[in-house]
Amino acid sequence: MGKNTQTYLVGGVSAIGGFLFGYDIGVISSILEMDYWKAYFHNPGSVGVGVIVSLLTAGCFVGSLCAGWIADRFSRKRAIMSACVVFCLGAAIQCGSRNRAMLIVGRFIAGLGVGVLSMSVPVFQSEIAPPHIRGRLVSLQQWAITWGILVAFWIDYGCHFIDSHASWRVPIGIQIVPAVILFVSMIFMPYSPRWLVDNNRIDEAQKVLARLRSGGDLHAPEVMEELDEIKEAVRIDRETAIRSYTDLLRVPIRRRVVLGVLIQALQQLTGINVSMYFATSIFKQAGLSGNNAPLLAQGVNGVVNMLATVPAILWIDRWGRRKTLMLGSLGCGITYFIQAVAKGATQHKTYDEDGSLNLNIPKGPSYLIIVMMYLFVASFAMSWGPIGWIYPSEIFPMRIRSKANSITTASNWIFNFVIGLVSPILIKKITWGLDLIFAIIMFSSIVIVYLFYPETKNRSLEDMEVIFTGSIWSHKDRKRIAEYDDANKGHVDAKMTKDF
Ligand code: BGC
Repeated sequence: MGKNTQTYLVGGVSAIGGFLFGYDIGVISSILEMDYWKAYFHNPGSVGVGVIVSLLTAGCFVGSLCAGWIADRFSRKRAIMSACVVFCLGAAIQCGSRNRAMLIVGRFIAGLGVGVLSMSVPVFQSEIAPPHIRGRLVSLQQWAITWGILVAFWIDYGCHFIDSHASWRVPIGIQIVPAVILFVSMIFMPYSPRWLVDNNRIDEAQKVLARLRSGGDLHAPEVMEELDEIKEAVRIDRETAIRSYTDLLRVPIRRRVVLGVLIQALQQLTGINVSMYFATSIFKQAGLSGNNAPLLAQGVNGVVNMLATVPAILWIDRWGRRKTLMLGSLGCGITYFIQAVAKGATQHKTYDEDGSLNLNIPKGPSYLIIVMMYLFVASFAMSWGPIGWIYPSEIFPMRIRSKANSITTASNWIFNFVIGLVSPILIKKITWGLDLIFAIIMFSSIVIVYLFYPETKNRSLEDMEVIFTGSIWSHKDRKRIAEYDDANKGHVDAKMTKDF
């Protein structure tokens, strides 16, 4: 058995939470197009559809805000388990919906579960991981999200051939299965060793570290060293008495809160969910015709998203967070820019009888747009997708980590919600202008990351205190950090053992 097998196992199991997240996001878009669904809910108009779609994100927002307290009070592990229960309740209500109100309430309740999961899974993964594979472990949740979106899409696609109301009830109901699997498996997973130490359960923490790091050897040097490090960090946390929500607004935490909130906001401002939620209509606009072509093109989008996350899982801890984010932004920016030019130069707007817009773009540029959209998704999947979740989960001190992450995660959901609301309007109104806006945001994000985001790869969670107490201009702070590394050379090298 490899040295980190147990850690991968525990991190991998909790990543099922990401699958539920992705599935719930993905499942609704094709259902909205199903005839049985439309007939059952009396053909909801755009406002009705908007409410049904966005109530999930609203639930996620509330859930993520509550998650901070739950994960601190009852542990990360129990937060994940309780989220499964809530999620199943929401899914069951949706599946058995008799009217629109039930569906909406069910979406909101499922959203509460997803919100709690989206915060507690990355925090849990990051707290069980040794520094040199932490990025990879948290990337597993992102990978699971992409699998969730993908599987939901293809299940929808398969079920849309069913000639009854089962066509929409089955895809909604089936998500209860992974939720139950996650709940049951979590019973056998350990508590976060960092949470245990913070709750004065030192012996248990030592056992968990032994299980994760040394095949059960309680007194292995790596176990003792990490335990000491965690104890020391918790002691310092207690001395500085950082623990409440108001501390998030104070030095030295404030800077990290701003960076965490901003990175999550920027993750959504990449516009990823425009292509996740509305790709079908964009493909239609771009000239893909027929009933199935735009739908299948969206299915391919999901596959690209999933596959392009793999390099991040493999190499994010080598590439580092900064470089990867900047390269990702460059890729996203260029692909948006090309789409804007291709649309702007060739579009000729007409409207169908049902009011939907056609851009009548000639074949060549329309294929270019589709390829650019896939390349955009790939650039996102390798960079902002995973790092949007990794970075906030690793930069905060123990006692404030879950509270801080509940705020950064809520920022992700609120931006997700707003983009879901305004982008369908903008896609119609300003067409290529929206691509241009996203291109500008992406190019600006390169500068933002360069100036403000310190590198965190291979650092222990306890090292973050040193990384984040210097200048806020991270490009100017490298010398100080290099000096710290020199002074702690043996220590840092030992932690960076490359056993990938
Ligand atoms: C984002 C989601 C997005 C998904 C796409 C996640 O990291 O938070 O909003 O739908 O990636 O893969």
